[in-house]
Amino acid sequence: MARTRRPLIAGNWKMNGLRADAIVLARDIAGGFRQAGWTDRDLLVCPPATLVVTVSEAVRGSGVLVGGQDCHAEASGAHTGDIAAEMLRDAGASCVIVGHSERRTDHGETDAVVRAKAQAAWRAGLLPIVCIGETLAERESGRTFAVLANQLKGSIPNGATAANLVVAYEPVWAIGTGKTPTTGEVADAHAHIRKELGGVMAEASGVRLLYGGSVKASNASDLLAADDVDGALVGGASLKADEFLAIAKAVQRS
Ligand code: PGA
Repeated sequence: MARTRRPLIAGNWKMNGLRADAIVLARDIAGGFRQAGWTDRDLLVCPPATLVVTVSEAVRGSGVLVGGQDCHAEASGAHTGDIAAEMLRDAGASCVIVGHSERRTDHGETDAVVRAKAQAAWRAGLLPIVCIGETLAERESGRTFAVLANQLKGSIPNGATAANLVVAYEPVWAIGTGKTPTTGEVADAHAHIRKELGGVMAEASGVRLLYGGSVKASNASDLLAADDVDGALVGGASLKADEFLAIAKAVQRS
């Protein structure tokens, strides 16, 4: 069956990058995207908040999308150090990652918080990428599917559609570790996620599901091979333009 979901390859730069390097990286990615002439897939870069304006300007006109790594649930107010979805949008972003496991761990973000952030993204006109994923202990105790189902139930707001939501499956134990699930484990998790999504929203069959966790050029075609995998959320390997573009190239179209 032909795949109708448009692949999305997203780079999460995390807390990396100063202006000069970020401009070079963003321009190289934009140049590579243009040169490849891809019209069948989306490329997204999510720099630190301080660089959203700079990176948006650097990729302007290339078709490369820019996103934030997190947002606050409120549009404005007394929240020192936080950034509203509206501010990201104003800075040039069209997407925002919410509920990354590093946010859930470092900042104690619960599913309810993540859900409110996804709603904030909609309010601001941003596409939220909602991250879910099990820890090693949860996987080893056979709770992976239950954990994913619970996270989905808690983190996806009412009103989700195929057009306004992306979900990223990121096993916590695979993030930044070089360890990855097998192609079959990714396929099983994604099939399960799509099935569970059907219980919390309409149009689950059209939602893009990304895999994230130690994706690099050399393992991308294996990790992204399954039917229910519609792209990748890439951390470390997104900081090198060649590597990131090679991952984007590895996304298969059927
Ligand atoms: P990684 O990070 O590719 O460095 O494992 C992925 C992520 O955290 O989104």
